[in-house]
Amino acid sequence: MKSDLLKAAWEKKEDAVILTTVDAQGVPNSIYATCVNLSDDGRIVVADNYFTKTKKNIERVHTVSVLFITTEGKSYQVKGDFEYITSGPLYSWMKEWNPTKHPGHGALVINTKEIYSGAERLL
Ligand SMILES: Cc1cc2nc3c(=O)[nH]c(=O)nc-3n(C[C@H](O)[C@H](O)[C@H](O)COP(=O)(O)O)c2cc1C
Repeated sequence: MKSDLLKAAWEKKEDAVILTTVDAQGVPNSIYATCVNLSDDGRIVVADNYFTKTKKNIERVHTVSVLFITTEGKSYQVKGDFEYITSGPLYSWMKEWNPTKHPGHGALVINTKEIYSGAERLL
């Protein structure tokens, strides 16, 4: 159910997503990311090509959000916890689609906990 909802929205996603992390003081930090994909089991995977502040934040605070918009103009915000991986099947999969001109240091694999479209909570 959760992955069906996300899969349907993700199929219509515009290129870039906005990944937001938070530092230990609660200060948010948002980045654009285009090297992103949805795994078969419905987890958003973001290639870490240039994470800097983002990397520091995910070492301390274990919740992130991903905001994206569809070609139909509907926005989705996914909140979740995550794993940061540098080996294993999902990491290898990221290396398959992450453009080789980018370093692909690691993969941020997000486990969806909540989904919103605007103020409406979908999950
Ligand atoms: C259009 C666009 C797409 C980007 N995609 C990615 C990406 O997929 N992965 C990544 O690590 N950085 C990506 N970046 C770079 C990040 O947005 C950001 O500049 C980088 O993480 C450093 O910011 P930080 O210090 O806040 O982490 C992209 C930048 C732009 C402008």
